[in-house]
Amino acid sequence: MKILLTGGAGFIGSHTAVELVNEGYEPIIIDDFRNSKSFVIENIEKIIGRKVVFHCTDIGDQEKISSIIKQEKPVGIIHFAADKAVNESVKNPLKYYHNNIVNLIKLLSVIDKHNIDSFIFSSSCTVYGSPSFIPVNEKTPIQPAFSPYGYTKQVGEKILTDFFKTKQQTSLTMLRYFNPIGAHPSSLIGELPLGVPSNLVPYITQTAIGKRKELTIFGNDYNTADGTCIRDYIHVVDLARAHVLSLKNKHSYNNIYNVGVGNGKSVLEVVHSFEEINNLKVNYQFGERRDGDVPEIYADNHLIKTELKWEPIFSLKEALHHAWAWERELKSKYKIG
Ligand code: UD1
Repeated sequence: MKILLTGGAGFIGSHTAVELVNEGYEPIIIDDFRNSKSFVIENIEKIIGRKVVFHCTDIGDQEKISSIIKQEKPVGIIHFAADKAVNESVKNPLKYYHNNIVNLIKLLSVIDKHNIDSFIFSSSCTVYGSPSFIPVNEKTPIQPAFSPYGYTKQVGEKILTDFFKTKQQTSLTMLRYFNPIGAHPSSLIGELPLGVPSNLVPYITQTAIGKRKELTIFGNDYNTADGTCIRDYIHVVDLARAHVLSLKNKHSYNNIYNVGVGNGKSVLEVVHSFEEINNLKVNYQFGERRDGDVPEIYADNHLIKTELKWEPIFSLKEALHHAWAWERELKSKYKIG
C-alpha cells in the first residue's frame, strides 16, 4: 500500500519512511530539500535495502502534487512538510502562515479531487499553549498559542477537522508531537538543523562536538524542582511508529493523539543524562528565559496506548546516545560540524 509523505526527507518523515517499509507499506517521498539533504534519500535506501520512490517537488506546486497523486495512487497521506522553529516564527510569521497554512490548504484542494483512505497531520503539543494542568490529555482546553508556529498548528487542526467532515471516507489523525529527539540506531539518518539549532538536543550535541562554544540553558528560575523547564522527550523512531499505527487504525474518522512518553524531564536532567550515557562533559551556562517557552508540559498518553496499542520502546538515554552517534557521523562522514 502506497503512502505519500510530504516532507519525507525531514527528521520525522525519514524515520517514518523506514518504519513504513518495516511494516510492509510503500512510502512515496515528496521533498524539495529546503530543510534536508539529498543524502537522506540514499541513506533511507541503505537502511531498507532497496530503492525508495522520491519526487523532488515543492509542496505548494499543486499541478505537480496532483500529477504525483494521479500517477502513484496513494491510499494514505502523511503531511510532514512544514516549518517548526518557534523563535523564527515570531520573527517571520508570514513564512509560517504561508508554508504551514497556505500550503496545507493547497494540498487539501488537490486531495479534494482524489479518494484517500487516511490522512495524518503533524501537529504539536504547542497547541495546548500554557496548560492549566499537567499532564495534558487530548481534552485539555486549547489555550492561546505562544507563537505564530503554535497558531499554525491550531489553525491546521481546525482546517483539517472542517475539511474531512465533508469526506467521511477518509480517516483523519492528528498527532500532537511532544519533543522528538534522537536518531536512527544505524546512524544513517537523524536531525539536520540548518544554521544554529533552536532545539535543545542538537544544541547539546553540537556543543559536545565543538561546533558551539557552550549551551545556554534558558532560565533556571522556573517553578520546577531544579528551576529549568520540563518537557516530554520522545525518540524519533517511537514517534515514527505512531504514524504507522495510525494508518492501521480504523477506529473513527477524526482522531487526535498525544505522542509523548508521559514523563517530564528538565533541561538539566537532559544535559546530565547526555553526559552520563556518552561519558563526556557539556559546557553550559544559565541564561535568561527564552520568549515563548512554557515552564512545564508533558503528555498524558493513555489514549494512544489504549487505542493504537502504542508504547515507546526507547529510553531518554538511548535517544541521547543515538543523537550523539549521529552528530559524530555527520562530522566524520559528511563534514557537517
Ligand atoms: C517547541 C514546541 C514543540 C515543537 C518544537 C519545534 C512547545 C511546548 N513545544 O518545543 O511542540 O515541536 O518547539 O521546534 O511549544 N533550551 C535551552 N537551550 C537551548 C535550546 C533549548 O535551554 O539552546 C530549552 C528550552 O528553553 C526548552 C527545552 O530546552 O525548555 C526544549 O526546547 P526545544 O528543544 O527548543 O523545544 P520546545 O521549545 O520545547
